[in-house]
Amino acid sequence: MERAPTTIEHGDGLAAALAATCRPLAEARTLPPRVYTDPEVFAAEGRALFGRMWLCIGREEDLPEAGSYLTEAIGGERILVVRGDDQVLRAFFNVCRHRGARLVEEPCGRLRGAIGCPYHAWTYTLDGRLLRAPRAEPGFRPEDYPLTQARLETLGGFVFVNLGRNAPALSAALGDLPDLGRYRLADLRRARVVEYTVDANWKVVAENYSECYHCALVHPQLNRISDLTSGLAQSGTAFNGGPMQLRDGFTTMSMSGATTLAPIPGLSDADHRQVHYYLVYPNLMLGLHPQYVLVHRAWPLAPDRTRVVCEWLFPQASLAAPGFDPADMVEFWDLTNRQDWVLCERVQRGAASAGYVPGPYHPSERCVHAFDKWYAEAIAPHLPG
Ligand code: FES
Ligand SMILES: [Fe+2]
Repeated sequence: MERAPTTIEHGDGLAAALAATCRPLAEARTLPPRVYTDPEVFAAEGRALFGRMWLCIGREEDLPEAGSYLTEAIGGERILVVRGDDQVLRAFFNVCRHRGARLVEEPCGRLRGAIGCPYHAWTYTLDGRLLRAPRAEPGFRPEDYPLTQARLETLGGFVFVNLGRNAPALSAALGDLPDLGRYRLADLRRARVVEYTVDANWKVVAENYSECYHCALVHPQLNRISDLTSGLAQSGTAFNGGPMQLRDGFTTMSMSGATTLAPIPGLSDADHRQVHYYLVYPNLMLGLHPQYVLVHRAWPLAPDRTRVVCEWLFPQASLAAPGFDPADMVEFWDLTNRQDWVLCERVQRGAASAGYVPGPYHPSERCVHAFDKWYAEAIAPHLPG
């Protein structure tokens, strides 16, 4: 008997489609195409997710001395993080209290003792107090015009900010994320960073990180070293992921699969044989390897465009070892990243097709489902009708 063609339902139905994503895995349907393409959904994510959640915007080592700063675009804002004269890191809305000029445009650098507005030269201290306003009238009170501060916390050497007014503490927001203390994250330092612009929605990047159903076909080099059937099984309120095993005969994820680098001190024999991959919602991806930690952060630029920052972190003893060279690991993950981006971009083009309707999840995509379900529940109250 001939099967009826799939019916394409035009019109809204967004709430119903998100509810279908939230069903148990075996019955669930992938997210509706509109959440990957619609500028209104993108704007809602900026306000309701990126504008309220704890986001990792860098490493403490990026801000080594008083005046060191970095900026990051978050949900329509460009947030400024500065190390003060007291060595404390603070996050500010990057906007002058006079007539709202953006204070700092550059992605990173060092301020010389103060934050100066380029418009009328209001000048702020590194801890955000207004120091002076040229030709101020009698009675003008500089203390009434400090920069607007955002929440900032550090954890494991990572700098997190939260633009929400009523955000829980970072530790509470991370919920049941497994304890990663044994990886001594605060003691790691960056050996390399590579940035990519991917022509796909940020959720496509996050979903791709959350499964290895695609690995056999897309990543022959990775599949040679890592057992793709061995993990990615856990999820919690703020994360998904889990361990995957190295195949026998391999000691690290690199082009050669071997390394002379020592493992991160104190890891167990089990951790020497596995890599833990975690997606920490919404956009931080941690790959915890025996010898190094790989970090991806996905920053939405547009519904169909994402900036991905990828960093390779190593113990300082490894970085100081004679002949230290991360090239084997960098090449491996740069290749893997690029293999992934090609497919992410194909997904984005497909999601924009009038012929695409949400499909089923494979059982090995339970972490994708966990992320999509988290997203659907988080965004649903904030979507346009
Ligand atoms: S807008 Fe900044 S000094 Fe006027
Ligand atoms: Fe992949």
